[in-house]
Amino acid sequence: TDQPLVLGIETSCDETGVGIVRGNTLLADAVASSVEEHARFGGVVPEVASRAHLEAMVPTIERACADAGIRLLDVDAIAVTNGPGLAGALLVGVAAAKALAVGLGKPIFGVNHLAAHVAVDQLEHGPLPSPCVALLVSGGHSSLLRVSDVTGGDQGVVPLGATIDDAAGEAFDKVARLLGLPFPGGPHIDRAARSGSSVYVDFPRGLTSRRDLERHRFDFSFSGLKTAVARWVEARERSGEPVPVDDVAASFQEAVVDVLTRKAVDAAVSEGIEDILIGGGVAANSRLRVLAEERAAAKGIRVRVPRPGLCTDNGAMVAALGAEMVARGRQASPLDLPADSSLPV
Ligand code: KG4
Ligand code: ZN
Repeated sequence: TDQPLVLGIETSCDETGVGIVRGNTLLADAVASSVEEHARFGGVVPEVASRAHLEAMVPTIERACADAGIRLLDVDAIAVTNGPGLAGALLVGVAAAKALAVGLGKPIFGVNHLAAHVAVDQLEHGPLPSPCVALLVSGGHSSLLRVSDVTGGDQGVVPLGATIDDAAGEAFDKVARLLGLPFPGGPHIDRAARSGSSVYVDFPRGLTSRRDLERHRFDFSFSGLKTAVARWVEARERSGEPVPVDDVAASFQEAVVDVLTRKAVDAAVSEGIEDILIGGGVAANSRLRVLAEERAAAKGIRVRVPRPGLCTDNGAMVAALGAEMVARGRQASPLDLPADSSLPV
């Protein structure tokens, strides 16, 4: 076909991802993770992540090419996450992408990690509905966006709101730690919550009071929730009674997804938009997926969420956004493309 063959490289955090797409068709999604090396520290150690990317880069590129049944020479363009993320980790991916671009004589496209979390859905469900409201929830970011052109462009991605403190995934990871669950905590809370009661503790819903809504209608806050869980657990421990981990996990999770889904649906209604797209690692959460679908359906709004494996960091999402940039005729990045750890969406 004449669709461009794009190889995408992702190294913003602890996953070394190399994805290959042809247009919107996913051909390979190779991911090597250093998460095990970070687990005993209870969080990602930047220096460890950078070194792991360096070691995993070439084998992961080779694996992706083998999976896709292509030769590197066949690739039409290289896409790479150039921010936001850990500076040293990003540099490894950007350097590798530049080397490939120069070696193959092909253009390089710097890709925004957050926009890539949105664009990845095209690989599963076809072209993005335009405009749509995107709920982007990951370990480092939580925001609501109005997206009409995921490659940016003029007003292509307009922020409607964002967290004013912790990201949703960060809250999952911190609360998991309080409950003695392993890092990263999101999947463990998700699992524990399945056998717990979501109404066991009525944890606070951040920025939902009438007064807060006036100034923060589409913003989020999760640090008060995390503190509330910490206090509840401490009080329980002081009383000498065991902490019902499953119930606390379910109640905490409900407090997070209640606010996320409520505000996402409100944003869509207020913007007159009929499609919500959910992306980022927390979009893998089973309760979030169910509640979003339920609440949106009640308002006649459609919800699209990529399969869990495409929600967490991977190279396919970068390749997907790169392919979209090629399709829209966007100019390639210069070869001195910098890594920008705080690149805004
Ligand atoms: O998008 P991602 O892979 O990396 C960043 O860009 O940050 O997101 C990672 C975050 C972690 O905080 C992790 O705990 C959370 O996504 N996460 C989940 C689930 N799976 C991953 N949170 C809740 N439920 C899940 N099933
Ligand atoms: Zn991410």
